[in-house]
Amino acid sequence: MIFEKMDSDTIYEVLISTRGADGNLNIKPFGMSLHEGNVVLKLYPNNTLFNIKKKGSFDLLFTYDVLMYTKSILGLLSEDSLESVDCRVSCKVMDFVVDKVEDTYGKNITTTIIAKPVNIIKNDLTMPLISRATNKIIELLVDYSRYEYMDVDAQEKFIKKLEKTSDFIQKNGNKKHKQSINLLKKEIRKY
Ligand SMILES: Cc1cc2nc3c(=O)[nH]c(=O)nc-3n(C[C@H](O)[C@H](O)[C@H](O)COP(=O)(O)O)c2cc1C
Repeated sequence: MIFEKMDSDTIYEVLISTRGADGNLNIKPFGMSLHEGNVVLKLYPNNTLFNIKKKGSFDLLFTYDVLMYTKSILGLLSEDSLESVDCRVSCKVMDFVVDKVEDTYGKNITTTIIAKPVNIIKNDLTMPLISRATNKIIELLVDYSRYEYMDVDAQEKFIKKLEKTSDFIQKNGNKKHKQSINLLKKEIRKY
């Protein structure tokens, strides 16, 4: 019911919250799609997958707040973020399917997770909005999440893209878009 406005052949960007064995909260961005009313995730080996395997559950968080996405990939979100999202749905895992894959970063394993939405913890109605500035930042965050696996050429390309997006954001972005770009630039300077 909650997902009736979503198209079934589309990957949506969402935040997923899980907890580690010590109770530590982990909120990270992922793609999700819907299949016959179930939530489908495709995860590379990461902490989120580890936590989901242990607990058999996770929460989907929906928000238009681009700064939350930026902060999530940088590990800067805390407990109160769970309250500021527009919609939060807890999901119970039904099945895990493991596949071998080969992409530009080499051989890897993906785990497809099929999960049932079981509890709507929060559902504020929000206006559906499309923002070019937000889309550009999300694209940059996906690239950034692969930064450590890139060779020097790819890293240089990413830095050029970051600069180009930054110019666009200075002209067209709001305060949160600008904060997002500044956080990313600060993070890249650490490498
Ligand atoms: C918008 C967006 C979508 C992403 N989608 C996926 C995905 O579908 N599967 C995946 O394994 N990683 C995806 N990532 C990368 C993870 O968020 C990233 O690897 C993250 O650092 C994992 O953190 P964790 O180890 O704490 O779970 C995505 C990143 C972004 C920014």
